[in-house]
Amino acid sequence: MRSTRLRGAGLVLVAVVLSGCAGMMAKEEPSLYSRLGGRDPIGLVVDDFVANLSADPRVSARFKALPPEQVFRLKSYLADQICEASGGPCSYVGRDMKSAHQGMKITEAEWNATVEGLVKALDKHKVPAKENSELLGLLGPMKKDIVGQ
Ligand code: HEM
Repeated sequence: MRSTRLRGAGLVLVAVVLSGCAGMMAKEEPSLYSRLGGRDPIGLVVDDFVANLSADPRVSARFKALPPEQVFRLKSYLADQICEASGGPCSYVGRDMKSAHQGMKITEAEWNATVEGLVKALDKHKVPAKENSELLGLLGPMKKDIVGQ
């Protein structure tokens, strides 16, 4: 009886030690923010993203209408937003997506053009497919607050 209990305790101890080792060996993946290279590379992607939108006739009128200081602010907000959403040390202090796009009546086609503009910028900066789709996965849920408002 006593030896059965001891054997049981021994097995529990071995299991605890082994799971501890597995925990130490399992390397945690760096945040998406780190894999994107940090705030500066994110800023470069955002510069090209907004340049792509300004050059795309499907959405360019929206952006050409903005004065330069507003474009500057938009880029800075976008970079902070991506930085924060991807696990970086930034705080997005702009408006929530519903308020920011209120009254714009953005269409599904404009949404698609915008996503294309972002993907083109990510491709230009050679962001790998995994990070590319992780980022789109973070931004995708914002669609309901942006389209048709
Ligand atoms: C995932 C997609 C999108 C994200 C993450 C996003 C993010 C933002 C952010 C952070 C701002 C600035 C908010 C502020 O000033 O407080 C903004 C403003 C703006 N967005 Fe979007 N946006 C998205 C999609 C779109 C689309 C599809 C359009 C239209 C084609 C659009 C057009 C604009 C315009 C014109 C402004 C400037 C508004 C202003 O300064 O008054 N956005 N967006």
